[in-house]
Amino acid sequence: MEHVTNEPAGVGRPDWVAPATEPLDPSIPVNDYDSFAEEYSAENENSLLNAHIERPAMTALAGDVSGRRILDAGCGSGALTAALRERGAVVTGIDASAGMLAVARRRLGDDADLRVVDLRDPLPFADGTFDDVVASLVLHYLKDWGPTLAEMRRVLKPGGRLLASVNHPFVEWLAEDPRPSYRETTSHTDLWTFNGKSFPLTFWRRPLSAMTDAFIDAGFCPPAISEPKTAPDAPESFSGISFMCFVAQVPSSGCSYGCQATCS
Ligand SMILES: C[S@@+](CC[C@H](N)C(=O)[O-])C[C@H]1O[C@@H](n2cnc3c(N)ncnc32)[C@H](O)[C@@H]1O
Repeated sequence: MEHVTNEPAGVGRPDWVAPATEPLDPSIPVNDYDSFAEEYSAENENSLLNAHIERPAMTALAGDVSGRRILDAGCGSGALTAALRERGAVVTGIDASAGMLAVARRRLGDDADLRVVDLRDPLPFADGTFDDVVASLVLHYLKDWGPTLAEMRRVLKPGGRLLASVNHPFVEWLAEDPRPSYRETTSHTDLWTFNGKSFPLTFWRRPLSAMTDAFIDAGFCPPAISEPKTAPDAPESFSGISFMCFVAQVPSSGCSYGCQATCS
């Protein structure tokens, strides 16, 4: 399990993450999960932030998924895919990284439906294919959420749900140096270091209202928002802020949110 540093204001970041302070080496690709798929997957498996905060939160939000057809968008090495399958869901996993999907296939088996897909592109599924889309810790790699959320909505059935987790916008804002205008959408690059080798990852931070507006603009009902806590059975606790989760429903005649904006 990684050590989660308690930076000022309770910002939780693992100690293998540091801001990129020097100009980047242009020969090293950014956000190249293929380069560290094994190392990141091993870290993600048992880490406090992933295994004991984010993943339990997402599985709890998903609730009873038995028999539901679910798209795991940005599935990585498939830990959430596996958890949803164990609960009876029929899950398709997509990710931009073939290396991460190779780890997922080792976990999930040859018959798992796993495909290389970049979430900035149209999704290779028919309208209304899925009951749920889950997107764990992936949307913050995208500058523009609009086309991606519109595609997610398209492949969901009426009443279907998009469950998404992202780095908490306040964490990202507090971590950026110099601190940017909160109201702007800004990017910053961190270095993730595994076995003495560092890899650059660029994250897009946006204000909370830009996130909720993006769901609504894509045709979802106003999302429910939550800030996950450490799971009760975790070996240690973290009281700071880490992630934000959204549950956004596609309008339907039985829509439980009762909003008038998009339901007609
Ligand atoms: C932090 S990992 C999370 C993986 C998994 N969802 C989980 O929570 O364990 C982020 C994943 O998003 C994927 N990713 C990043 N940008 C992407 C994009 N544009 N399209 C599809 N996948 C992307 C990466 O390859 C990586 O597997």
